[in-house]
This record gives sequence, C-alpha cells and structure tokens, in this order.
Amino acid sequence: MVKLAPSMLSADFAFLARDVEIVEKAGAEYLHIDVMDGMFVPNMSIGPQIVKCLRPHSKMVFDVHLMIVEPERYVESFIKAGADIITFHYEATKKVEETIELIKRLGAKASISIKPKTQPEEIEHLIKDLDMVLIMSVEPGFGGQSFIPESLDKIDRTRKLIDKHNPACDLQVDGGIYTHNVADVVKAGANIIVAGSAIFNAPDIAGAVKAFREKVSNL
Ligand code: DX5
Ligand code: ZN
Repeated sequence: MVKLAPSMLSADFAFLARDVEIVEKAGAEYLHIDVMDGMFVPNMSIGPQIVKCLRPHSKMVFDVHLMIVEPERYVESFIKAGADIITFHYEATKKVEETIELIKRLGAKASISIKPKTQPEEIEHLIKDLDMVLIMSVEPGFGGQSFIPESLDKIDRTRKLIDKHNPACDLQVDGGIYTHNVADVVKAGANIIVAGSAIFNAPDIAGAVKAFREKVSNL
C-alpha cells in the first residue's frame, strides 16, 4: 500500500502541532520533516528541538530528511528527539557506510537520498543495507517547485535496483508532487509519497490528504 508523507516544511510553523494533528487524523502515515542547514541547501529550517517538542503530539512515523553537510554529526540528536527514519544525502558526506551503520545502531531506519543530477546506479551497492531510498524530484531546498519529468525514469530504475537487491526497501519520492501527477510517480515504482505545498497550502488540509489517498488507492 502507498503511504503518504506530508512535508511539514509547508505547514504553518506558528501552529505546527495543530497542522500535524490535522494530517494525522486525515490518515497520513508519515510526517516528513525537512532539516536544512543553509550549507548543503541555501535555506534553513528546523533542528532537533522542534522534533522533540512535536513527538508527544503524534504517533505518525517521523521521517527526518537531513539536507545538511556531514549529517553524521546530527544523527544521534535527531534519533534521541524521536526520529523513526533518518534520510541523509549521498552527496553530503564522505562517511556514507558509517552513517548508515550509525543510524541503525541507534535504532532508527536508514535511508539515503539522491539529488536530481545523481544517478541511482551510484548507490546500487548500498541498497542491500538500506530501509528506504529517497529520490528527489526537485532540487532540494525549497517547497513549491515543479516536478522534474526525468525523475520518472530514475524512479523506475531505482525500483528495479531495489527489487534486485532488497525488495523490502521502501522507495520515497519528494518534490513537486500533486494529485495530478501522483499516479505517474506511483506507477513508476514509488511507495511513499512526500507532498508539502499540495497538502499544507491547500485551503482544506485534511481534504488534500484524502484526495491523495483516493488517487493512489486503486493503483
Ligand atoms: C524540498 C523538501 C521537500 C519539500 C517538498 O527540499 O525536501 O520535502 O517540502 O515540497 P513540495 O511538495 O511543495 O515540492
Ligand atoms: Zn524532503
């Protein structure tokens, strides 16, 4: 079954607990939490303290997407704060294998993300050790961008690599996903869908979650 991961980046940060509760009650399984350092990407967002404060308010899977340089420095802080999954960027560290091991040793699920210009074949050797792969379908850093069409081919190739090496591994896609293109993303092989603007900028947030669900339920 396809899972939905609303991206908190587009929520109202003054009312985070309220917005998180709305998507949880509407049936979203994951909360996608974007962490940006102003270095790996030209934007800044939140740190572990916000994750810690939100944790008691939600039972959703906390899916933390680290867009920071040398992510190994902050893995422990985010897991202690309540992260269930840690995604880090393949491009952001020289210690890729060590970071996967660290995340798992600390009891979370380990995931690697690749930017639009990085090819899935570059991470093929890591898939056997991963719980999830995240394909970025926009340049990381900002919500509200348009889906890069070439991502569909990358999702398809990644799905084939996952089926070959580790079929239990999830395939998440993040960036520019709306109800009009989510079916294409799922048909290409994704099973976890991130959506920020399409959900939190909608006039009816709960309605937007349900609209996504309807689009993917019969695929
Ligand atoms: C972008 C983030 C995304 C972002 C997606 O760097 O990783 O999670 O919130 O936002 P939309 O769905 O608006 O493209
Ligand atoms: Zn993200």
